[in-house]
Amino acid sequence: MSDPKKLFIKTYGCQMNVYDSERIAETLGGSGYTQVESADDADMILLNTCHIREKAAEKVYSELGRFRPLKEARPDLRIGVAGCVAQAEGEEIIRRQPMVDLVVGPQSYHRLPDMERRLAKGERAIDTDFPEEDKFDHLPGRRRANRAPTAFLTVQEGCDKFCAFCVVPYTRGAEVSRSADRILEEARMLAADGVREVTLLGQNVNAYHGAGADGEWDLARLIWALSEINGLERIRFTTSHPNDMNEALIEAHRDCAKLMPYLHLPVQSGSDKVLKAMNRKHTAADYIGLISRIRAARPDLLLSGDFIVGFPGETEADFEDTLSLIREVGYGQSYSFKYSTRPGTPAAERAQVDEATKTDRLHRLQALLSEQQTDAQEAMVGREVGVLFEKVGREPGQLIGKSDHLHAVSAPAHESLIGQIGRVHITAALSNSLSGVLTTG
Ligand code: 5AD
Ligand code: SF4
Repeated sequence: MSDPKKLFIKTYGCQMNVYDSERIAETLGGSGYTQVESADDADMILLNTCHIREKAAEKVYSELGRFRPLKEARPDLRIGVAGCVAQAEGEEIIRRQPMVDLVVGPQSYHRLPDMERRLAKGERAIDTDFPEEDKFDHLPGRRRANRAPTAFLTVQEGCDKFCAFCVVPYTRGAEVSRSADRILEEARMLAADGVREVTLLGQNVNAYHGAGADGEWDLARLIWALSEINGLERIRFTTSHPNDMNEALIEAHRDCAKLMPYLHLPVQSGSDKVLKAMNRKHTAADYIGLISRIRAARPDLLLSGDFIVGFPGETEADFEDTLSLIREVGYGQSYSFKYSTRPGTPAAERAQVDEATKTDRLHRLQALLSEQQTDAQEAMVGREVGVLFEKVGREPGQLIGKSDHLHAVSAPAHESLIGQIGRVHITAALSNSLSGVLTTG
């Protein structure tokens, strides 16, 4: 048998890309590829790309430039671009970087084995279709040894909401939910391989509405079914839209012990005028009311959010509305961005806020958010939390894992506890993590 060919994948962007990269590696495994950690002696390099902001997309071209010497030294090396830049830019990528052999959009990963055969014949392969068939029905199963104790699981993909700033409806396509059966089957395989925690992924995950055993299931129903799988101890989901947060899901946060007390619920802005211009279809008061209902159901929930500053038309007063929403709501974790003009989206055509103003607002926003994040971490000191240990730490004898609230936690513990949930008494909050001591084995 010939030696396995080496596949190097570099992943950018969101967690769905991390999930996709794993599925791509599994698919190309059937074509004789093994995944490797370095590009240097790879037979194929794949960049799994993100198009969400301009910087993310531009990174792809600079990275491709860095691979040019490798391609010149070894013309047999295959270079591919997958993901959202591939979807958005298609053949344009090859025009800008003629050394690229393969361009594949997110809905066509199941076609990679065919595409790889074309590459082997020295041809180029480009596929940015939104195929009729569901890629998930054609990707290989997921049994594998040596899995990490946490895994992502895509349950829904795409978006029909068309926020005025966002490329996702164009790069990931229309909103589609996978069937509950297939998701449960995948989760059972993961649990059998030692996975203890799954994060359900979707660009609009709480809009999930997949076919279930008895009609259509919403996300809460799916979570309850997943919670019955033996070995699976923790369930999370991301990313949600406020308008899809239904009562059943709020109740699941109250009643389902396996659903972790963490919720990523982006609001983007605290100004009603900007929210309207963004086509978010809710007001700041709607969001604040929703948060208080969720917190009534699950008081210790840690909330995370996304914010955009400098959206076209955002005034100082609008921005201050965002700061006051943040003060009122209180976030334990957050992601904030300067608005980035994305060609083809409605907001790209509008009068833009200047860069210096965006930078200034981002700094002020991040100062407040980082204060809140520190407060949330410090509030954990003295508490006992569940920690799923994932790996050994930098210091000898230490393990690192994530708490129920998704804080990184380190504690002295034996390696045999990797993959298990321990109870940890938190003794200190460091800059980006917590440390503590085990209270039980
Ligand atoms: N500019 C800046 N941030 C953006 N996001 C999405 N599109 C843009 C854009 N054009 C942010 C939003 C979203 C997160 C994934 O990325 O906050 O929730
Ligand atoms: Fe980036 Fe959005 Fe694509 Fe994820 S889905 S990789 S965030 S553009």
